[in-house]
Amino acid sequence: MQKVDFLVIGSGIAGLSFALKAAAKGKVLILTKVNADETNTKYAQGGIAAVFDPETDSFEKHISDTLIAGDGLCDRKIVEIVVTEGPDRIQELIDYGTNFDKHGSEYDLTREGGHSEKRILHYKDITGKEIERALLEQVSKNPNIEILTHYYAVEIITQHHLGIEVTRETNDISCFGVYALNVHTGQVETILSKITLMATGGAGNIYSATTNPVIATGDGIAMIYRAKGRVRDMEMIQFHPTSLYNPGEYPSFLITEAVRGEGGVLKNKRGEEFMQNYDPRGSLAPRDIVARSIDAEMKKSGEDHVYLDISFKSKELILQHFPNIYEKCLSIGLDISKDMIPVVPAAHYLCGGILVDEFGHSTIHRLFACGECSSTGLHGANRLASNSLLEAAVFGHRIAFQAMEDVDKIRFQENVPDWNEFGTEQSNEEILVTHNLREVQRMMSDYVGIVRSDFRLERALRRLKLVKDETEEFYKKTKLSVKLCELRNLVQCAELVIRCAMKRKESRGLHYTTDYPYKLGGKPENSVL
Ligand code: FAD
Ligand code: SIN
Repeated sequence: MQKVDFLVIGSGIAGLSFALKAAAKGKVLILTKVNADETNTKYAQGGIAAVFDPETDSFEKHISDTLIAGDGLCDRKIVEIVVTEGPDRIQELIDYGTNFDKHGSEYDLTREGGHSEKRILHYKDITGKEIERALLEQVSKNPNIEILTHYYAVEIITQHHLGIEVTRETNDISCFGVYALNVHTGQVETILSKITLMATGGAGNIYSATTNPVIATGDGIAMIYRAKGRVRDMEMIQFHPTSLYNPGEYPSFLITEAVRGEGGVLKNKRGEEFMQNYDPRGSLAPRDIVARSIDAEMKKSGEDHVYLDISFKSKELILQHFPNIYEKCLSIGLDISKDMIPVVPAAHYLCGGILVDEFGHSTIHRLFACGECSSTGLHGANRLASNSLLEAAVFGHRIAFQAMEDVDKIRFQENVPDWNEFGTEQSNEEILVTHNLREVQRMMSDYVGIVRSDFRLERALRRLKLVKDETEEFYKKTKLSVKLCELRNLVQCAELVIRCAMKRKESRGLHYTTDYPYKLGGKPENSVL
């Protein structure tokens, strides 16, 4: 059994930003399920949005763009917090050693969909990799932070594990730490903490086409929901309009929105631009609109993809801004300085998640959530491009200061029992896990994608129930494996997406349903479960 002041689950921008601050006050232990840098953060391409050019840009414009993209569902106070605190947090990333591209002494700001000004700081087309590198380097130098890689958090520990009944109505549920599977030994270890931060990222892998790496399995959201915490707005799944159409490749390779920010346009196979037929902002309309328009074009033409064309720009610009994309496309025989890029929407980002307040408190005491797994109210019904890294950096900081204040008042919980694996056996049927995973992903893509309906949602929930029952049965009988736990969490998240979607009797932002193709009047409500 280990005891730590601050326990962090996840080593992306959210977990690392928090850890670097909280380490000033106590010992921080970070658990991460694979290698430390294997995170969604590492794959971020476009950049991080903030007001860095006061001559042309302003907080008001960034706030307004975020609110417009969020389609009425953002929490204005949170938007103001993130936008106004953002530049200081980005300066800290720079002070930690993150490189962002410059033109002379000025940052090379680019644009993405829904932004009225150029405000995206980036490092070529591998911004996330650069941020993750700099943060991990800082962490490695900090004697108060330890990272345990290949440690998989299975469940958070609450009163439930002490034999006390908790329900979603219990208002004093507390988190005492986690049970974590040490992947090297196969043993489940008990880790007690005064404060726990859930920073487990998104859940893109509930879909069969996603830009997310395979680690994005919604673990934190599922753990907290099972522990009777609250989640919100899970129906708001952002499909990125332009993942590379390359059948058989999983996950899908992203073609950053910055390609459109630098002038790239969406075209059909005849080379005709089509976005103006859907929105006056054309290829740079917010993501929900662009993804839906591509979906409509594909349905009209019967094609599997559309095209993104940047070939009319100079090769020099392409190589300078998008060297990673250029190389990737070349590896499959496409020269993007000459050829159009075949693209298709893919699940990209979860706007909802664990319900938190303005300091990142979840509805469970001693448990905070940060980054993509959380729902702060910033994104509303549709996240503005490049606001995600920003949100994680801002909230990582806010939570650290709150947690450092709280930690002295908290004692470790005594009498926490060891993980009980009585009655479980080693499985020789792991393939069933893979089959069930594919079934969930296919079903979610078919019925709970960009365009939804009551009929499709009901059908999805019925089919999911079968898989859920089978998975729970299997989970009770077999020794833990990461794949099985991830399947269980993905099934839980898929169910939450469907149930939130069923609650929303309107079309708003990323949730579009043919049964209610309009927005309800009045103040929109969040879907809370
Ligand atoms: P992550 O970076 O995903 O980190 C999650 C961590 O939790 C990982 O270390 C993982 O191993 C760990 N973990 C998960 N479950 C467990 C468990 N059970 N036990 C132990 N550890 C666990 N956003 C932008 O703002 N700008 C961009 O340009 C941008 N581009 C993107 C491009 C791509 C291809 C993708 C996929 C996303 C992009 N995003 C972008 C979104 C952004 O990258 C993510 O939302 C953000 O990085 C999430 O950070 P995080 O720290 O919350 O989670
Ligand atoms: C991209 O580079 O297009 C992704 C940006 C984001 O998801 O915010």
